[in-house]
Amino acid sequence: MRFPFPRIRSSPIVLSVYVSTFCGLILGAQSSLLDDLLQALENLVDCPSCHAALVPLQTLAFLGDDEFNAIFIDICEGLQLEDPDVCQGTLSATGPIIAHDLRSIDVAGQTAGRLCDALFGFCSSNVSTPFTVPLPPQSKSPVAPVDKRGEPFQVVHISDVHIDRMYTVGAEANCTKNICCRNFPDEAGHNITEPAQPNGNSKCDSPTSLADSLLEAVNDMNPKFVIFTGDVVEGATWLVNQEEVTNDLEEFNTQLLSKVKAQVFPSLGNHDSAPVNAFARKTSMTANDSQWVFDTQSAGWVQWIGSQASQEVQHDSGSYAALVPETNLLSSRNFLFLMSSEFSFWLYDSDEFQPDPNGVLAFIVDQLQAAEDAGQKVWIIGHIPLGKEDTMEDQSNYYDQILQRYKDTIAGHFFGHSHKDQFEIAYSDYSEQTAENAVSVALIGPALTPTSGNPAFKVYDVDPDTFGVVNMRVVFTNTSDPSFQVEPKWELYYDARETYGPLVGLAADSELTPAFWHNLTEVFERNDTAFQLYNTFISRGGAVTPCDADCKANTICDQRAFRSENNCDTPTPGIAFRRDVAVHVVAAHVESDKCEGSGIRSLLQKMRVKLQTSEAKL
Ligand SMILES: *[C@@H]1O[C@H](CO)[C@@H](O)[C@H](O)[C@H]1NC(C)=O
Ligand SMILES: *[C@@H]1O[C@H](CO)[C@@H](O)[C@H](O)[C@H]1NC(C)=O
Ligand SMILES: *[C@@H]1O[C@H](CO)[C@@H](O)[C@H](O)[C@H]1NC(C)=O
Ligand SMILES: *[C@@H]1O[C@H](CO)[C@@H](O)[C@H](O)[C@H]1NC(C)=O
Ligand SMILES: *[C@@H]1O[C@H](CO)[C@@H](O)[C@H](O)[C@H]1NC(C)=O
Ligand SMILES: *[C@@H]1O[C@H](CO)[C@@H](O)[C@H](O)[C@H]1NC(C)=O
Ligand SMILES: *[C@@H]1O[C@H](CO)[C@@H](O)[C@H](O)[C@H]1NC(C)=O
Repeated sequence: MRFPFPRIRSSPIVLSVYVSTFCGLILGAQSSLLDDLLQALENLVDCPSCHAALVPLQTLAFLGDDEFNAIFIDICEGLQLEDPDVCQGTLSATGPIIAHDLRSIDVAGQTAGRLCDALFGFCSSNVSTPFTVPLPPQSKSPVAPVDKRGEPFQVVHISDVHIDRMYTVGAEANCTKNICCRNFPDEAGHNITEPAQPNGNSKCDSPTSLADSLLEAVNDMNPKFVIFTGDVVEGATWLVNQEEVTNDLEEFNTQLLSKVKAQVFPSLGNHDSAPVNAFARKTSMTANDSQWVFDTQSAGWVQWIGSQASQEVQHDSGSYAALVPETNLLSSRNFLFLMSSEFSFWLYDSDEFQPDPNGVLAFIVDQLQAAEDAGQKVWIIGHIPLGKEDTMEDQSNYYDQILQRYKDTIAGHFFGHSHKDQFEIAYSDYSEQTAENAVSVALIGPALTPTSGNPAFKVYDVDPDTFGVVNMRVVFTNTSDPSFQVEPKWELYYDARETYGPLVGLAADSELTPAFWHNLTEVFERNDTAFQLYNTFISRGGAVTPCDADCKANTICDQRAFRSENNCDTPTPGIAFRRDVAVHVVAAHVESDKCEGSGIRSLLQKMRVKLQTSEAKL
């Protein structure tokens, strides 16, 4: 990617004039607005300058959605941040939502700060808006289940399948877009440098054949049930629309049903809507409805979750609770609106404090209370882990309050989204992060899509009385193995008990408790070999990112952050970094970037970094 203005001395003004010229059609007033905008983006290095940048952004939004999009598309194309079709598709889909947000809020207010966090990674605070979630008192002390040491049963956890139904064998696998291996119109007539292989490539989302292969391997594990933590749809986010997403969701439901013998408990992901990250808020008069997603999955999931839960999916923004047959385990709640700041850009269009925009927290409390009354255990599944940087801090905090209240009822948390094999520990006191205070752990499933390492899934051995996880195994297929393109082989990658147990001194009869995971983080602190092993496991030994001492400290901090306000994923503010370094910094600290692909957030980040680093480059 060549910088488009190599010979101009890059004072901000010259840069702006250059882009104005490039934009050509932009006239008088808008041109000075453009200058203000570019200047503001260049100056954007921290929270105050982010609020300041929202001023010209808001002015632009008031000119109308078309003007808003046009200017950003011009900048995107002028700076060659993405291919023109990606610039246009991304901004046309999400630009109007951002413009709508900007028109609806005070640029100095708290929502504006949250929007800054969502768009640029600034103003992320470690203080959530104080709010006490209304919680019923404990009706009776929950009886700890008698652990009869029954034979564990197996549960398979799959996530982030990102199946590209338009994957084309022989198409360009080394393209300039977020995902390749499709016949994109602007690539027609190009000579193919690297043809797409039958079962997948590292720059492409999953072909159907790879998903089939995974689902067949799942049966070999003989699971009692399967959990799927979301993201069916591929990463060509600039192209997705309601028709494609509906079709993708339906096809995956059919594929699951035809291949997997066990019952499935699925969850929605942030890609399972159109545009991406744009689930509507019920309390908004203007937000576009996401009901079509809930209707699609209500119908598509009923065969596994039953009719009552299916109705909940329809009426409770994709959330449901379903009892696992022959157990006292209530599985699968879907945390739609808790999730990511990016998960829904519709959530930034009001200055009014809305602790529970779609009533999902209230739904969860009702279900947990009913489970407590009935003496049931609960597994919570959802897409975006609550500790991530792109989870809304407030709702993450409020969910944590619920968790503290129902910690004896909740037997497990399972998420996806990061594409990585990770975990996050919840504590009764986050300022005293000790084994004694560890109250829950979120196990995060690796992705099927080969874009972030080797495709994998997890298998849990589960105690039939406590529903605690006794062991966790990761099964993977090695995309570098010559057999992969012929027929993927699925094999054991590692066994958590065998690998980590001896390091922690895990007792033979102990489950993988939250305290165990905490103790493992202490092992990582003092044993770098063990930590580097974990760092390799994150991506299943493919696309491993080196992790130095700072990265390690951040990683361990994040492992101890079930709550978003406790993670250490803050962008490094105020540095005029060199471009390559800057891009690396952004990538390292905005973990979800990979998953978001060329979403609007990464586009704005690239825009800012490119404007700020031009000087160093010249
Ligand atoms: C909302 O949906 C309507 C009708 O489908 C569409 O015309 C409009 O552009 C959408 N608005 C946004 C901001 O996406
Ligand atoms: C919150 O962040 C501020 C500023 O970054 C820092 O000084 C403070 O120690 C942090 N507080 C906690 C509880 O982490
Ligand atoms: C992919 O494309 C890039 C840039 O066009 C090139 O530098 C690289 O060598 C290519 N990789 C392969 C494996 O062909
Ligand atoms: C493709 O390759 C052929 C043969 O090497 C060459 O003649 C042609 O110019 C190439 N086309 C493009 C668009 O690069
Ligand atoms: C964690 O470590 C503490 C302190 O070393 C120890 O007392 C405890 O038994 C350990 N717990 C587990 C589950 O390994
Ligand atoms: C550190 O971890 C490595 C890799 O798991 C292990 O082989 C080694 O025994 C550990 N060292 C200590 C001192 O526990
Ligand atoms: C995958 O296969 C390649 C090629 O055979 C090998 O070098 C690599 O070590 C394998 N990776 C893992 C994680 O087994």
